[in-house]
Amino acid sequence: MKGVILAGGLGTRLYPLTYATNKHLLPVYNQPMIFYPIQTLVKAGITEIMIVVSGPHSGDFIHVLKNGKEFGITHLEYAYQEKPNGGIADALALAEDFADSGAITVILGDNTTDADISPSIKSFKEGALVFVKKVSDPTRFGVPKFDPSDNKKILEILEKPKDPPSDFAVTGLYIYDKNVFEHIRNCKPSGRGELEITDVNNVYIQKGQLGWAELDGYWLDAGTYDTLLQANVYWSKKESAPVKISE
Ligand code: G1P
Repeated sequence: MKGVILAGGLGTRLYPLTYATNKHLLPVYNQPMIFYPIQTLVKAGITEIMIVVSGPHSGDFIHVLKNGKEFGITHLEYAYQEKPNGGIADALALAEDFADSGAITVILGDNTTDADISPSIKSFKEGALVFVKKVSDPTRFGVPKFDPSDNKKILEILEKPKDPPSDFAVTGLYIYDKNVFEHIRNCKPSGRGELEITDVNNVYIQKGQLGWAELDGYWLDAGTYDTLLQANVYWSKKESAPVKISE
């Protein structure tokens, strides 16, 4: 499977930190933020990767990532999203030729996780799969509404609901079959003027083709001052903690 990392946008929630560079290149402890999603993909065996960039600092990525060899990437491609505020689905649309009618794993460039996503990638066949995680502040995210009579089924995903139907976030990690591009073409901009990935996921739900898995590990979207700080603290502790060997 191939992988796509979405690293566009203006990062306005982090102004003034993002005046001079792209959000995804800001430090998370000892690495630029985008190294984490790259490592998640490469650890899961995905080494053909497209990175979608946008905004005034797009050129910075190539200085940092070069051709990706030092991460174990075998093929690295960049795409440029013309409208940095076009939304996640608008950015993903640029990966259609790269996907070449195959399934793709997609990660938002500000999502850091130490979960192993390879079992879901290996077992994926068709439709779409979203990774969810229990959170204390679901109103910031896409939130799944589970079927009360069958809690393995998601009935709908609500984007940043005031009254969340569960305490899970739909994280920025997804797997899609080739039909995702057709579904994006049928999407209309939301109230905030973006093509929403949540609308695309809801199309898969309506077709009875959306699966989900709980991320087994730490996950954080580092797109605000507080979560950026939390991500720095988490990864600094993890990287500097001595490995405990049980006797
Ligand atoms: C986006 C998605 C949202 C998801 C989140 C995860 O939100 O729209 O559904 O839960 O990423 O990071 P945004 O970062 O655009 O506010």
